[in-house]
Amino acid sequence: MSLEIIRDPEILQHRTLELKRTGKTIAVVPTMGALHTGHRTLIAEGRRRADILIVSIFVNPTQFAPNEDLDKYPRTFDADAEMCRAEGVDFIFFPTNDAMYPTGYATYVEVENLGATLCGLTRPTHFRGVTTVCTKLFLITQADFAIFGWKDAQQQIIIRRMVNDLNIPVEIIGVETVREPDGLALSSRNKYLTPEDRIDAVVLSRALSAARALVLQQAETCAKRIREEIITRIEQQSHGVVDYVCVVAQNTLQPLDVIEPGNTLIALAVWWGATRLIDNIRL
Ligand code: PAF
Repeated sequence: MSLEIIRDPEILQHRTLELKRTGKTIAVVPTMGALHTGHRTLIAEGRRRADILIVSIFVNPTQFAPNEDLDKYPRTFDADAEMCRAEGVDFIFFPTNDAMYPTGYATYVEVENLGATLCGLTRPTHFRGVTTVCTKLFLITQADFAIFGWKDAQQQIIIRRMVNDLNIPVEIIGVETVREPDGLALSSRNKYLTPEDRIDAVVLSRALSAARALVLQQAETCAKRIREEIITRIEQQSHGVVDYVCVVAQNTLQPLDVIEPGNTLIALAVWWGATRLIDNIRL
């Protein structure tokens, strides 16, 4: 199949229902565009998983608060489409805001509790927007598989909870974070960093690696000590301003006192100027 760009949700859903009737499997990679090598890895995973591969490109307004970077968020459709073509994507779903949220739109999907911690502390309406748009994307694309990066660990954990709770017949596939050679996690927001901040930001992956070494090599189990180690490194080795550093259980996102092997998420968010970067490790 050659790449097709579809803007109308009804038209895409009509096509995907038809494809499902003929026995095809479908994978979706939900994105907000500004595609980078991290997305390429997600797309390649989708290509391996299913007969039909859909990439959605939609800068979803409901996950941005009024004071956030919705208007400033990078939009690079032509380059995104080029990457999708090269990666053998079958459909790009590229809806307008009006097509996704027409006048009178009134329905939201909210996962309780999990969306209130970590990034939810400063972005209280963010995950409600994410879960709402993902539900719509799952229904429109009829996907058997949805591919998400572990860089947005909280997002993925919340979406897994939602899919379980609502019996949505889609399998969530998690793909490990792709990093620059110096360790910085790839993100569409990295392009906002000044050259000095870009050098500074390497502290995030270094602090997380140090935390991993503390746990795995020195058998440190005290979450408070690990958290302090990370904060000290960020404060001493960069100009970044810590939003949060949290050591939580992967299943509940509630703070841990003691590291639980196999169920620990260390997640952080740090500001450089107006740019907020996130990163995490799972232990
Ligand atoms: O991770 C993202 O890019 C977005 O939150 C997503 C999942 C595409 C929903 O808009």
